[in-house]
Amino acid sequence: MTAKRNILVTGGLGFIGSHTVLCLNEAGYNPIIIDNLHNSKIEVLDALEELLGYRPVFVQGDVNDDALINGLFVTHRPEAVIHFAAHKAVGESVDNPLMYYQNNVVGLITLLAAMKAQDCSKMVFSSSCTVYGEPETVPVKESTPTRPAASPYGATKQMAEVILKDNNWCEVQCLRYFNPVGAHPTAKIGELPLGVPNNLIPYLTQTVAGIREKLTVYGGDYHTADGTCIRDYIHVMDLAEAHVAAIDRLFTSQRIQKVLEGDPSTDSFEVFNIGTGVGYSVLEVINAFEKATGERVNYSVGNRRAGDVVAVWADTEKVNQVLGWSAKRDLATMMKDAWNWQKNC
Ligand code: UD1
Repeated sequence: MTAKRNILVTGGLGFIGSHTVLCLNEAGYNPIIIDNLHNSKIEVLDALEELLGYRPVFVQGDVNDDALINGLFVTHRPEAVIHFAAHKAVGESVDNPLMYYQNNVVGLITLLAAMKAQDCSKMVFSSSCTVYGEPETVPVKESTPTRPAASPYGATKQMAEVILKDNNWCEVQCLRYFNPVGAHPTAKIGELPLGVPNNLIPYLTQTVAGIREKLTVYGGDYHTADGTCIRDYIHVMDLAEAHVAAIDRLFTSQRIQKVLEGDPSTDSFEVFNIGTGVGYSVLEVINAFEKATGERVNYSVGNRRAGDVVAVWADTEKVNQVLGWSAKRDLATMMKDAWNWQKNC
């Protein structure tokens, strides 16, 4: 039996990271987790242990800690990195841009420097559909031009993409996530927002659970069929599976060899939209939640939220064809799993 490949998962106790750890294990990889617990909890490690049947390697620390990261490479010799560790709240990034540039940009550079020094040249990177801004046409393709970022958070994702493109010694699968929601079907892991949630689904489930009084729908006068914004919601398990497909591709495509040999037709940086390809309005999401769970959502339509994009969803043709991945779980499943997780919190 050949040894399992070690994969370093930064931010591996976070929402998407923890689900990906499970999928990596399922696919025969050995996840090595580093997380600074800034936006996650150590209890997630216990839940992972229960689901995996063993306690995965976990190091509490920060991607900005150069010595720690280098030490991790020496000890565990990961063959690839999935880099989730980053801040992700748009509003917080406006209030504290330095924190965002430090963690999301400097942290990436520190990690890349360690990878280079330690001879690891494969990465899956968490990007976001936020790089498209307000697109002129939907669905958006990977070739759709990016727009000036509307927040420091968005700017860090755009900068990170540029940094990764320029460092063409490193083979990168850059995944632009649309709106990740839902939770593991066992409801043992899920999203753990700090304080009052900004995102729709945790706010909605907390409202139904009685933690929040009422959900405000941000704007009912947009130029959409029902006047509310449209997003491409994707189940976190589908998203996690996309990371495994990307890791598999890093070990099978041989692209980096071609790049190193100077093949002009090959690029070290590949980008994929990770969405379902279907957009739903906020009101459609609320209706889907009520139908899937039998619960009522207390909501009212309020003012628009500054900075919101009106409508964005993914063209998934490239990811379906090249990565051989497509989303399998529907909106009802996303809602059921999100609610089961909330009830378990
Ligand atoms: C945005 C970014 C995403 C980023 C995420 C981080 C875009 C298109 N998406 O997601 O890349 O990772 O922030 O937080 O830039 N809504 C309500 N009431 C609420 C909360 C949300 O009506 O209480 C609505 C929003 O107006 C929006 C939808 O629900 O139409 C989804 O909002 P949210 O979950 O916050 O995600 P995005 O803003 O789409």
